[in-house]
Amino acid sequence: MMNTLVIRVDPERRTWWKQTLQDLIPEVKVVLKDEDEGEYAPSDVKYAVVWNPPNGWLATFPNLKCVASVGAGVSHILKDPNYPRSVPIIRTVSESLRMRMTEYVVLHVLRFHRRLPEIEQAQAERKWVQYIEPLASDVHVGLLGLGNLGAPVAAALNSLGYRVSGWSRRGNAVDGVRVFTGPSGLQELLSEAEVLVCMLPQTPSTENILDGETFSAMPAGSVLINVGRGEHLVEAELLAALDSGHLRGATLDVFREEPLPAENPLWSNPKVLITGHTASAIEPATGGRVIADNLRAFMNGDSVRDIVDIEQGY
Ligand SMILES: NC(=O)c1ccc[n+]([C@@H]2O[C@H](COP(=O)([O-])OP(=O)(O)OC[C@H]3O[C@@H](n4cnc5c(N)ncnc54)[C@H](OP(=O)(O)O)[C@@H]3O)[C@@H](O)[C@H]2O)c1
Repeated sequence: MMNTLVIRVDPERRTWWKQTLQDLIPEVKVVLKDEDEGEYAPSDVKYAVVWNPPNGWLATFPNLKCVASVGAGVSHILKDPNYPRSVPIIRTVSESLRMRMTEYVVLHVLRFHRRLPEIEQAQAERKWVQYIEPLASDVHVGLLGLGNLGAPVAAALNSLGYRVSGWSRRGNAVDGVRVFTGPSGLQELLSEAEVLVCMLPQTPSTENILDGETFSAMPAGSVLINVGRGEHLVEAELLAALDSGHLRGATLDVFREEPLPAENPLWSNPKVLITGHTASAIEPATGGRVIADNLRAFMNGDSVRDIVDIEQGY
């Protein structure tokens, strides 16, 4: 039986994924989880390309050799207590993902720095306001996560003159960034962070990191941008920090429940800007090529750069 690659991704683009991956990896048979059921046996499946598979599903393939995540994050796979942890996971990162995230974070840092929410409100009230903002060189931006996405974001903010600090697990040096580690390093970063940007992976050590204690440690009038995962944020404690005025605003791209339910109070909070998990999406054309190249390297026994450390959770 031919080696089979099964795809389980968002319904809208799954036919596209099938065609693209079949063209790029002709040596395997590519099937879709629902449409092609009956055309393959679970024991044929050697590879899986997934976004948010249900718990237990990947464990149904006894000969699975490798899983590719359609995204840089892998918490949507590792949330599964039955995930066969000896099966390697490759995450998908690309230059386009880095560029999109950089555009998004720079846009929202500038939006807060140059007070666009207040200016739009003033226009709605036909009020003439003149804000003289501090220079970027007087604005502290704190980045939680200095990896594949955090490092280029730091470089872009640096080039605009912002004072950039970052927090990572191992504390590797990043050009132009004051790097902090550990709980005390986090407190030091927070004490100066007028803009806090979360670009962490979701792991047991980072869940709920954006809570009331974190917000209290930030200077009064500071703002939050969360593009990591919804599980990083304690929503009720953000709403309390916004209501008290301690935080001036928040831009949120990721949520515990997606799509964000209509009744969630974040929707109607005037200090919150919501985007629908679009800060940086995998572009089909380049994303497909990256996944195909990674899988082929894995099949050939070559080293694959973006293999996940399953024990660390990212
Ligand atoms: N909203 C979106 O559209 C979107 C798109 C893509 C990704 N994302 C999210 O962004 C996350 C980051 O992506 P990435 O590609 O930059 O990941 P990455 O390259 O793995 O970088 C993760 C960074 O977080 C740090 N980190 C991890 N655990 C930590 C801890 N316990 N304490 C302190 N720092 C910790 C890492 O430290 P080390 O450098 O020491 O390893 C690293 O700097 C993804 O996991 C995903 O959740 C969101």
